[in-house]
Amino acid sequence: MQAYQEFLAETLIDAPTLQERIASLAEEINRDYADKHEDLLLICILRGALPFMVDLMRHITIPHQMDCMAISSYGVGKFQSSGNVRVTYDLQTNIAGKHVLLVEDIVDSGHTISHVLEMLKTRNPASLRVCSLLDKEERREVVVPIHYRGFSIPNRYVFGYGLDIDEYYRNLPFIGVVDLEKYQSPG
Ligand code: IMP
Repeated sequence: MQAYQEFLAETLIDAPTLQERIASLAEEINRDYADKHEDLLLICILRGALPFMVDLMRHITIPHQMDCMAISSYGVGKFQSSGNVRVTYDLQTNIAGKHVLLVEDIVDSGHTISHVLEMLKTRNPASLRVCSLLDKEERREVVVPIHYRGFSIPNRYVFGYGLDIDEYYRNLPFIGVVDLEKYQSPG
């Protein structure tokens, strides 16, 4: 794998800015769910939302539970998703009667989160909301409600802080933009 410095076009959101925004999103969540704490369930959409989920949870002061689910998109190119979405790892928690907050890394076309919302609605949660760190509004193909939005970003391929480029660099503490002309796919 190439060193990321070779294809980093620019740092879009640096680490302190990310952390500051995450703390303020958590404050909003703390306020909104203050009277629902016994039934708050955070759901991390694997794998991209993992660092965001961990940092967000550390700022959520009301008692809550957490679970994870994994989704895969298929029949698509690397930089494009489609409506073909499948659950590859399902929740271990019964969400009936719970106040569910889905934690996602990025909403792009909207197909992934829309599919997850439709599926989870059938399991009768008390409420169902979405918290997404990033929102690429320009790319939206289906309307999805985002109740908590970290940052609106332009239509560029980004990586770092959970988001991958060919499964690498999810560990970076910042969000960078890929220069697709300089990026060489491994294998
Ligand atoms: P959607 O179904 O088009 O909204 O795509 C959502 C998923 O596509 C996200 O959860 C990411 O895994 C992936 N994705 C979309 N845009 C990017 C990007 O710029 N970098 C890395 N992954 C992305």
